Amino acid sequence: MSAEPVVVPSQVPTHWYNLAADLPEPTPPALHPGTREPLGPQDLAPLFPMALIQQEVSTERWIEIPEPVRDIYRLWRPSPLIRAHRLEKALATPAKIFYKYEGVSPAGSHKPNTAVAQAYYNAAEGTTKLTTETGAGQWGASLSMACALLGLECEVWQVRASYDSKPYRRMQMEVYGGVCHPSPSDLTEAGRAMLAADPDTTGSLGMAISEAVEAAVGDPNAHYALGSVLNHVLLHQSVIGVEALAQLDEIGEGADVVYGCAGGGSNLAGLSFPFLGRNLRDGTSTQVVACEPSACPSLTQGEYRYDFGDVAGLTPLLKMYTLGNDFVPPPIHAGGLRYHGMAPMVSHAVNLGLMTAIAVDQADAFKAGVEFARAEGLIPAPESTHAVAGALARARAATTDETILLGLSGNGVLDLPAYADFL
Ligand SMILES: Cc1ncc(COP(=O)(O)O)c(C=O)c1O
Repeated sequence: MSAEPVVVPSQVPTHWYNLAADLPEPTPPALHPGTREPLGPQDLAPLFPMALIQQEVSTERWIEIPEPVRDIYRLWRPSPLIRAHRLEKALATPAKIFYKYEGVSPAGSHKPNTAVAQAYYNAAEGTTKLTTETGAGQWGASLSMACALLGLECEVWQVRASYDSKPYRRMQMEVYGGVCHPSPSDLTEAGRAMLAADPDTTGSLGMAISEAVEAAVGDPNAHYALGSVLNHVLLHQSVIGVEALAQLDEIGEGADVVYGCAGGGSNLAGLSFPFLGRNLRDGTSTQVVACEPSACPSLTQGEYRYDFGDVAGLTPLLKMYTLGNDFVPPPIHAGGLRYHGMAPMVSHAVNLGLMTAIAVDQADAFKAGVEFARAEGLIPAPESTHAVAGALARARAATTDETILLGLSGNGVLDLPAYADFL
């Protein structure tokens, strides 16, 4: 085994990286659903604090991470970048595989990178409560944790399919003091309408977003927090890639290709955008591959057009690859990947040819997750197994010692029943 299996830089990044500064063309703006004009800051004020609204439209390359946020990041950051020697050996590949592991956060995934930042800015501007949606529950648990650390209340609408099949995440939210409802619920107008249309619906992220947005708009002390998709979320997640770049630099490696799973696009963007920025500025040629589920293939099968981020049409219109805002994906285990759209900035990058996308079948994803666990010990989150499947296929086909960087967005130990279905 090599002498450097684990690379950990000594410092938490001081700044987030913003790809908007380096894109050859700006990302199409979010539009007001009524006027179809680009949104102004006041349009978003009922939902988000001003600091996040400014980040949403910022084109500054580097944005300083407030010291209190860095202080919380220090609980688990920098996260490790690990050379997967054992996996390489098991695959008999000449490729070098590194994985950046975000499951070391207290909540178990990359989601706290933005949850902490969003809770911080909301608390700083006097909000006392955040509402949100969650799929598998990783985001709801992360926001509940961040709210606990920063003294806010947290109310979460969890997609019905996951609420029923993943009770441990709800319990995790409750330990942190969060309140979790199944979605659709009878607590909101949007939820009641969805239940009237289909009382047995398994729910979707788009439905849960409608409920959480409605709840925030109706409460003067509450704001809404989104776990993916928006520019400010992708910005916060860039700590992953900023660290990974520094970690690879430290050992004189580059990344030939980056694989990340993509639901709304935030962990993929967080890991890959600093590498894309370097491509655009310095002419490097790191490839980026988004790995999405074949059951919800927005990038590989969707249309690139303006669409709502939710089912009820309460959100702004976003230019993105979309399967249609009323698309209800089948209840696959990777609940965090069941989103009809994709982050506008990831969609724009795909449209410009800066990254590519593949769709992975659930069975192939779990097979890869099991292979990874048996070689490296770590059980990836069901979402992350989609990236593992992409990286494994690449490594198997490799004929050179190319470097593959794999984003492992979360830990799967609370998802073992899902694994059990595929053993
Ligand atoms: C572990 C994990 N990975 C990935 C995702 C997908 O989200 P995103 O594409 O925004 O990273 C989720 C969403 O809940 C998740 O929990």
